[in-house]
Order: sequence, then structure tokens, then C-alpha cells
Amino acid sequence: RLLIIDFGSQVTQLIARRLRELNVYCEIHPYQNVTDAFLADFAPKAVIFSGGPDSVTREGSPRAPDSVFDLGVPILGICYGQQTMMTQLGGKVVSGHGTKEFGRAFVTPQDGLDLLNGWFATDKEQVWMSHGDHVSEIAPGFKVYGTSPNAPFAITADVSRHFYAVQFHPEVHHTPNGGKLYENFVRLAGFSGDWTMGAYREQAIAAIKDQVGDKQVICALSGGVDSSVAAALLHEAIGDQLTCVFVDHGLLRLNEAEEVVGMFRDHMNLKVIHADETELFLGELEGQSDPETKRKIIGKLFIDVFQKYANDIEGAEFLAQGTLYPDVIESVSFSGGPSVTIKSHHNVGGLPEKMGLKLVEPLRELFKDEVRALGVELGLPKSFIGRHPFPGPGLAIRCPGEITREKLEILRKADAVYIDQIRRHGLYDDIWQAFVAILPVRTVGVMGDGRTYDFACALRAVTSVDGMTADYYPFSHEFLGETATRIINEVPGINRVTYDITSKPPGTIEWE
Ligand code: XMP
Repeated sequence: RLLIIDFGSQVTQLIARRLRELNVYCEIHPYQNVTDAFLADFAPKAVIFSGGPDSVTREGSPRAPDSVFDLGVPILGICYGQQTMMTQLGGKVVSGHGTKEFGRAFVTPQDGLDLLNGWFATDKEQVWMSHGDHVSEIAPGFKVYGTSPNAPFAITADVSRHFYAVQFHPEVHHTPNGGKLYENFVRLAGFSGDWTMGAYREQAIAAIKDQVGDKQVICALSGGVDSSVAAALLHEAIGDQLTCVFVDHGLLRLNEAEEVVGMFRDHMNLKVIHADETELFLGELEGQSDPETKRKIIGKLFIDVFQKYANDIEGAEFLAQGTLYPDVIESVSFSGGPSVTIKSHHNVGGLPEKMGLKLVEPLRELFKDEVRALGVELGLPKSFIGRHPFPGPGLAIRCPGEITREKLEILRKADAVYIDQIRRHGLYDDIWQAFVAILPVRTVGVMGDGRTYDFACALRAVTSVDGMTADYYPFSHEFLGETATRIINEVPGINRVTYDITSKPPGTIEWE
């Protein structure tokens, strides 16, 4: 296994991801925990030093234990990792004026380094730099293998000892061929690349058992991919020590509650409490039409309800959450930042402290596509794993204006017809998210010989990578015409169908 010593960079997890893509097993450990004894016990086959926010020129800044250099294994230092490596091995780093470099840079390589094999297609390669300090003198035994305008020691190595040090971040997207560098590194360290998601599953299970012991865990199961995979993984690890609470706010899609509860409770044998609190939620939402007010009511009730049910579960000490790595990065980099609240997001953050619970977050190291792969590995149906995202506040934010039972019922039926159309035409997997919104207007129509005065609805479908930006999906006119006809014929209460062709920005994906 490979050890990543984390010096606090926000992209350390990306190194792990690049390695997982190469089917190499690695673990990330904060530098404070990496002692001589730890190293001897871990016995890594190779070590990577991550980047980090500190300056090695600062007294008391983080270091790797010196014994790491005596293990006789390949070491790769990245950014801060490069600088601490140089400093510890006898080189020099300078700080401040004229040494900063942030963003895209071009490295000119020199021949003869196995780490760079197959990387440089031309004499210049784009890399991503982000550093305030730079190496001014390399350590004895090192040679330069690449330079950039502001980093004369962009790539250095002591080939005889297999120590490599780069100033840039090969793990990020903006170093387009950086994956090659990791590939070369793990090959020369002797990894065969036989590690898989199946193996990850085993390790994750062992880690959960280790953390939880014989204590009870509770989990808010929404039926979304993240909470579902987290629940399935926990169940495999600790069986009946896990109890899931499925909060049914009455704002779910057609048959959704039955499907989710049925699958987890009856099919997979999880302990699931179906907290049907439709009356409570719809009662509190009555007469409310302001989007933020609606979101806040739902968010608060959700927490109250979850807490009420959870309090009845005896001896619960842990709360499981399907937090993913992108959430971890986001909460680190943007907490307290100057960003504007566009919409109040629905989550259970803050609950653990309030309830005195410890957190279990078994998906914290994974990206969405890896969570999906793990879900398949755990035996969740592919159709379930590939489902479009569904927001916490549910249909409430697809029902602009006041929410009524009548409108919800119409919306559920229209949405089911629309999704059925999309599946029948084989488009479901090309679309990031698709749904119907019911509009707060009635329009006049004619059906048969009679006048109708029913609701209008809007079809929404977008493509996106992460939900942060989105494009509307270009359905054919035939598809749109056929779908409109089906909805009007099959869903009483709707007599007009429109198609939302707004991208994000300036629109958002949901209507509220
Ligand atoms: P917007 O409408 O902000 O949505 O463009 C972006 C993505 O986030 C989903 N969404 C939510 N998900 N809780 C969630 O879990 C929420 O409160 C929430 N609001 C929006 C939305 O469905 C889309 O995928």
C-alpha cells in the first residue's frame, strides 16, 4: 500500500482518486500522525507528500519524519511536499517577493527521467501551480528535469534513491496529463494495479466496525444515491446495529416512499422506520408561497421529525451521513466565505452536536461516480443507483406558490408520465435531471366539446456535470409533442404543457 502524508492541501483527496483510478490502494494520513513508529508499522511501498498551505520557511511548520527517507521506498513530493523534502534533505526554499505563482504554467522538461515517460507530447506541458514559496537550491543528489518561468526547479529527482519532487499539482484537472506522472510513479514503485472497488468495500467495512464497535447507529435514509449506498455499506458492516429513518414529508414522487422502504426493509432487510409525517408538513406549509419560507419550514420540520424518531431508538451513539468528498472540500474552502445564499439548502448539518451524536461518514473519501460503483458492488439495483438527483425539499420546490394536495397529486402523475416518456425513448441516462413543475396558473383549453380551465405545467430537463451549471436538454419536437399529448390525456387537471429552455445560470435547475 501507498502512504499519502497530508500537509493540508485542499486537493489531497484528488491524489487518492488518481491512485484509485490506477487501481492502487492508498491511505491518507495527516502529517501529525505520521511518526517513526507509525511508518515502521504501516510499511508503505511508496510515499507521497501532499501540498499544503503553510510555508516551510516558517519556524515550526510541518515536516515528514526523517526516517521516511531511510525506508528505501520511492517518494514523490508535491508543492509543499516538494519544499519540505528539499529542506529536510539539505536544499533551500525561499519565500515571498517574486516567487509566487498561481494558476496555469508551462513546464519545459528534460529527457532522462523515468517518471516523465510518455508524458510530454511537445516540448512544453501545461501544469497547475499554486505556491508562494519556491526552491532556491536543490538538495545534494538531486538533478533538475523540468523548469517553468517562475520555478527553475519545477521537476527534480534523485534517481538513485527514487526521490521525486515537483512544484506543481499533477493531480488536478488543470494539469491535463498529470495522471501519467502518477502512473509512472506507481509502476516504478512496483504496484501492479490490482486493487478494486470490491477491495475498497472490504476496507470500508473494517473501518466502520472499528469506529462503531458494538454501538447503535442511526441514519436518515432519503432514497438518494448517497444515503442509500451509505446505509447499504453500514448494514453490511454492522447489521442490526443500524436503524434508518425515512422521513416522508408527503412531498415525494409517485410511489417513491413504498419503493424505497420496500427495497431497503423487505428486500435488503435493513431496519427502516417509515416516518410518515405528511399531515404535519402539509399542514405547516398551508398558505405559504414564499420559496425561502417553504424551504425553511421543511428544513426545520425535517430535523424535528428525525430527532423525534431517533430519540426513540435506544442507545444510538452515531449518526451516519452520506457526505461525499466534494462536500468535504466545499465546507473547508467556502465556510464563512463571502458567497450569497441563493437557496437555503436542505441538510441535517448541525444535528450531531444538537443530539450529542458522533458522525460516521463512510463515503467521505469518494466522488459521486465512485459511490455509484460502490453501490453496484453492494448489490443495489443499477436502475436505482443511476437515478436522477432529487432535492431534499422534494416536490415543494417544483410547485411554485402555495402547495395543495390537489396540485401535488397532479404533479406526481404528470412527472411519472414524463419520466416514463424519457425512459421509453432511451434518454434517461443522457440527462442529469428531469422533472415536471406545476405552475400556479390555470389556463383555458378545449377538450372534446368542452371548455377546460386547468393547470399549466413545465417540463424541465438539463445536462450538467455537478449541478453547479447546467444546459437545457435539446429534446426533439416530436418527443415534446408526444409527451405533451400524453400528459394532457393521462393527467386530469393539466391542460397545457410548456418546456423550460433556461440554462443555469441565469436560471437554477429547480423552480424555487
Ligand atoms: P438548483 O435549483 O440550485 O439545484 O440549480 C442544483 C441541484 O441541487 C438540487 N437541490 C437540492 N438538493 N437539497 C438537496 O439535497 C436542497 O435543498 C436542494 N435544492 C436544490 C437540485 O435538485 C439540483 O440537482
